[in-house]
Amino acid sequence: MKYLVTGGAGFIGSALFYRLMQSPEAHVTIVDKMTYAANPASLAPLESDPRFRLVRADICDLPRMMDLVRAEAPDVIFHLAAETHVDRSIDGAGAFVQTNLVGTFAMLQAARAHFEQARPAGFRFVHVSTDEVFGSLGAEGLFDETTAYDPSSPYSATKAGADHLAHAWHRTYGLPVVVSNCSNNYGPRQFPEKLIPLVLLNALDGKPLPVYGDGLNVRDWLHVEDHADALVRIAEAGVPGQSYAVGGNSEKTNIEIVRLICSLLDARRPSKKPHTDLITYVIDRPGHDRRYAIDAGKIKRDLGWAPSRKFEQGLADTVDWYLANADWWRPLRDGVYAGDRLGKVEA
Ligand SMILES: NC(=O)c1ccc[n+]([C@@H]2O[C@H](COP(=O)([O-])OP(=O)(O)OC[C@H]3O[C@@H](n4cnc5c(N)ncnc54)[C@H](O)[C@@H]3O)[C@@H](O)[C@H]2O)c1
Repeated sequence: MKYLVTGGAGFIGSALFYRLMQSPEAHVTIVDKMTYAANPASLAPLESDPRFRLVRADICDLPRMMDLVRAEAPDVIFHLAAETHVDRSIDGAGAFVQTNLVGTFAMLQAARAHFEQARPAGFRFVHVSTDEVFGSLGAEGLFDETTAYDPSSPYSATKAGADHLAHAWHRTYGLPVVVSNCSNNYGPRQFPEKLIPLVLLNALDGKPLPVYGDGLNVRDWLHVEDHADALVRIAEAGVPGQSYAVGGNSEKTNIEIVRLICSLLDARRPSKKPHTDLITYVIDRPGHDRRYAIDAGKIKRDLGWAPSRKFEQGLADTVDWYLANADWWRPLRDGVYAGDRLGKVEA
């Protein structure tokens, strides 16, 4: 099997890469622009494996993507490359419009040309999206595949637009596209701008732990390796033209997450005062969705996938991974992003 993974040097893409490479028949080409969010160290353990190739390229470069997909002739394209941080999308939406919309268009066009020319049996274009496209839930209810799109941030609006492009390329051109809409991921190798690694590394450095607004925004958390398993199942058995909602059935408020990380660190790296003393409530993110939660019944019924990890254990394993892998994150904290507040629009 030949796989092409866009964004494979990022958080979820690298987890998917390791999952795919478990199969001895797998050949994986990663296409990645290596933005600030990519870390070459994430791919280092398998960088000399002859079944792996890294192509440093911008997915918005349509002629290059046409050539690359034609030459690689993949059986499956997993499209993950994106600008992904909501706060950065508030500060500068342009890169999100480019990569998430223009880049998705280029990948769909390149996939379409390959599909029409080579007609590879069982070809799939797996478009990896987010539950954020559905907007915000109140205290009750769950998102599923029938939920209307209602994005709030420049990030989620561009992901929503990309999902519509992907579905349109199936309906109009017959490209075998399958879309996943997944909840918040956590696990190893997540760039330390996202809640869990940011709080963890700030706590280790004795810096304030920023909690937006009242801290009661709810997210449904899924371990990244469970997400990678879901994406493989979707590529194997997902029905072209369909969407699959993917979630961890693990709703937590942000303040619960921060407190859990503090207690894990109190046990592993005790300091004079409990780490919760570092918690600092800060002005909320504009347009901050209140609650996300997923009904993942369809992917369970139709594809036999369900999350395998319990959140509390997965979070403890994630904390242990960061404690054991300072070589992975220290250069990012020192040279790329030190944890300053992003996405604070002044009234
Ligand atoms: N992280 C989550 O909780 C989550 C949840 C659901 C869905 N998703 C989706 O999964 C995908 C991966 O998310 P992630 O958290 O791994 O993101 P990430 O920010 O960790 O990685 C994104 C990767 O894409 C690459 N990239 C960015 N722009 C590019 C371009 N123009 N050309 C080529 N490569 C480019 C980056 O270099 C990086 O390696 C995204 O599409 C995201 O919307 C993420």
